[in-house]
Amino acid sequence: MSKALRPLMREHEVITQVLRDFEGRIERFWKEGEEIPLKHIEYVLRFSEEYVIKSHFVKEEHCLLPALVKGGVGRDSINVVVKEHKSVERIVRRMKSLVRLYSDRKVSLDEVLDTCMELIEFLLQHIYKEDTLIFSHYGDVSEEEAEEILRCYDSVAPSSNVDVREMVGGGGV
Ligand SMILES: [Fe+2]
Ligand SMILES: [Fe+2]
Repeated sequence: MSKALRPLMREHEVITQVLRDFEGRIERFWKEGEEIPLKHIEYVLRFSEEYVIKSHFVKEEHCLLPALVKGGVGRDSINVVVKEHKSVERIVRRMKSLVRLYSDRKVSLDEVLDTCMELIEFLLQHIYKEDTLIFSHYGDVSEEEAEEILRCYDSVAPSSNVDVREMVGGGGV
């Protein structure tokens, strides 16, 4: 695997870990009634906004995807990735407004969690698609090109080097 891919693959692992943990909590709530603190839902929301959308997606769209096109990956695949990023952004916006309504006791927790589950399922399939169908077609690139992509990551989203828990203000991964 090109070293230009490694940071993003690592981020896929972090995102997957946070989403799987949250999915487990939601399932325990539905099956056993185990409480989910609002603070944790807010944490996942901030994680989605700051780490996934403002950092991970930006690095993909500004640095990796242009390199993939240069490397021969079809435009259609790239368009699918960008379109799915927009879908994630829409789901997260909806989740944010539901969390606000839930804090004001205007919607039920189930309504919030349905949207959270939608986000989890959609984002996990997106990551799976990138890993197996799109990024895997990115072959060897020259050392200089890989370095250039790594520098691009740092320039568009420097905060991504920060520990994820610090970045989204704690709440427990
Ligand atoms: Fe993506
Ligand atoms: Fe990704």
